Amino acid sequence: MDTRTKFAGLDIASPVIVGSCGLSTTMQGLEKMYKAGAGAVVLKSIFEEQILFDIKKNAANYYTPYETFGDSYDYIANHIESNALEQYLNLVRNAKREFPMPIIGSINCNTFGNWVNYAKHFQDAGCDALEINLLYLPFNVNTSHDDVQRLFTDTIQSLRRIISIPLIIKVGSYFTDLAKFMQQLSWTGISAVTLFNRPASWDIDVDARKIVHGPIAGTPNDIFMPLRWTAILSKKIRCDISASGGVYTGNDVVKMLLAGANSVQVVSALYKNGIEHIATLNNDLKQWMERNNYNAISEFQGSMSIKTTQDVSQFERIHFMKYFSEIN
Ligand SMILES: Cc1cc2nc3c(=O)[nH]c(=O)nc-3n(C[C@H](O)[C@H](O)[C@H](O)COP(=O)(O)O)c2cc1C
Repeated sequence: MDTRTKFAGLDIASPVIVGSCGLSTTMQGLEKMYKAGAGAVVLKSIFEEQILFDIKKNAANYYTPYETFGDSYDYIANHIESNALEQYLNLVRNAKREFPMPIIGSINCNTFGNWVNYAKHFQDAGCDALEINLLYLPFNVNTSHDDVQRLFTDTIQSLRRIISIPLIIKVGSYFTDLAKFMQQLSWTGISAVTLFNRPASWDIDVDARKIVHGPIAGTPNDIFMPLRWTAILSKKIRCDISASGGVYTGNDVVKMLLAGANSVQVVSALYKNGIEHIATLNNDLKQWMERNNYNAISEFQGSMSIKTTQDVSQFERIHFMKYFSEIN
């Protein structure tokens, strides 16, 4: 069984890749991922505030609009290790020397600004691709659709001028016109979209009457959102899809591939079961391929995606009526 495939222009040994998280911050973690058969690793994100902090620190007279970050900048200023970015780039250099698997750098941002210039350092350090987690949430009543579109297109256009490695955009699901917007994004020359990022959840402490952080770890039920949208979008957009969220088993990997994903990211399942779980996912994928007489990923990848001519609205409607009404 051959699990080799292509994602975002990169040759990967398996479609199972490690999503951005704290497990990839050391060489030991990366070694375990490589040995377990990860197709690629998206490194833990650097925040745009960290980058701006670094630029400011290293060039006293260099103007950065960090004042606009307010509390988040203060948080970074107090918590960042003084050489965090250089350590990150060293990790990339060392990983590229040791492990023949693609290393994907990651930047987490929510504004367009000077930080984009820093992307070149990721490329120069040896990153095979860059994933930008554009963590946008539509909570501002003064933000229009055009503002959101500009944020994404300005960021992508600038990055494409600065770097030549594949660019992957990790997006959320909070867009009124998700299908149309993803199609437009895919026309900007990006290599892939990652569906979806997960904003930190909120909760309420009822005794303190305070808003607090909700749980960080995901659950297996998280798969249904990226699965649906991967199936809907994979034939309609002009770039690859990395499906992310709720992947715990080999069957979950197979489902995402059938829906049309070109790679499948896994995070919470590794926190729960250990990094070695990647080998289980790969073995289960191979066994499924064997049982179903497939020799290569390309023989079944996307075979269950929604055809461009298919109308999903009727399927959704009947599905809803069947499960949420008395009509059987
Ligand atoms: C502990 C932890 C740290 C994470 N850190 C990042 C990060 O730095 N950047 C990012 O884009 N996503 C981050 N994520 C989100 C994951 O990359 C992924 O999108 C999300 O966990 C959904 O996948 P899962 O269901 O397999 O966990 C993190 C998730 C966890 C659980």
